[in-house]
Amino acid sequence: MPDSGTELYLDLLKRCLLNLIYEDPRIPFGWDVDASEGVYKNFDLESRLNGSDWPSTAHTMIGMRRLDNIQALFEDVLATQTPGDLIETGVWRGGSTIFMRGLLKAYGVTDRTVWVADSFEGFPHPNQEGVSARSFSSPGLAEARTGPPPAHVQVILDRLMQGTSYADVREHFARYGLLDEQVQFLRGWFRDTLPAAPITRLALLRLDGDLYDSTYDALQALYPKLSVGGYAIVDDYRTFVECQQAVHDYLEATRTKVDPHDIDAEAVFWQKRD
Ligand SMILES: C[S@@+](CC[C@H](N)C(=O)[O-])C[C@H]1O[C@@H](n2cnc3c(N)ncnc32)[C@H](O)[C@@H]1O
Repeated sequence: MPDSGTELYLDLLKRCLLNLIYEDPRIPFGWDVDASEGVYKNFDLESRLNGSDWPSTAHTMIGMRRLDNIQALFEDVLATQTPGDLIETGVWRGGSTIFMRGLLKAYGVTDRTVWVADSFEGFPHPNQEGVSARSFSSPGLAEARTGPPPAHVQVILDRLMQGTSYADVREHFARYGLLDEQVQFLRGWFRDTLPAAPITRLALLRLDGDLYDSTYDALQALYPKLSVGGYAIVDDYRTFVECQQAVHDYLEATRTKVDPHDIDAEAVFWQKRD
């Protein structure tokens, strides 16, 4: 159990971000439900810890293992004095970037920035200009290419995206007392915002955009800025085939060799060696 003030703050911050405190219900996965199931299911602790549910109100869906992983990698970056900022591409309600800002605060770090990159209007549409078909090949996502979902699924998807607007995410940071000049927002589609972002160097690069283009575009724009000794985290590596494919294609195109480690059943990370 944590006992120092720093550890206690970070532990409580993670519990709040996951809403282990008030145990909000989860939203059923859109592609699993029929109309009779409704919009909510009971809170389930194991699912929440593993980041395998869709929370109705919690500020992150990544679960405790992946929050712990951000903390462990950040603490290593600090210990080794690896230079650079922290970024997440794909923030949803902002929770994991709020945790990153909390880490800077807890350790008194004032010379690093947390970059918060999202459209703040959800995922690209399958027919949107510049979005390739290979972005939607996983079960559940593939159906999105064939047209609008049935009404009962749309209700669930709308609920899932509540609290993810630009104003909402800023407000979430503010509620934790963590909205300040060390937080910078990159608002828009990754392919537009990331190449032009005024980021010099990164120590932590966390990818959570799920889709092929969202993953590839982020790696292409940002991986060259990751310091040697810094870490890349890919949230959906084992969840979405298109995400894993994008990682492999980028690494192959750039002749980069990496050694990914599992965080939990979905996410991986590796350290940049050269
Ligand atoms: C799975 S959610 C991220 C979960 C989040 N990391 C958390 O802590 O709960 C994926 C997010 O990626 C964003 N996204 C996906 N592709 C994008 C793109 N190409 N450009 C901008 N935002 C994108 C969506 O808007 C959504 O908020």
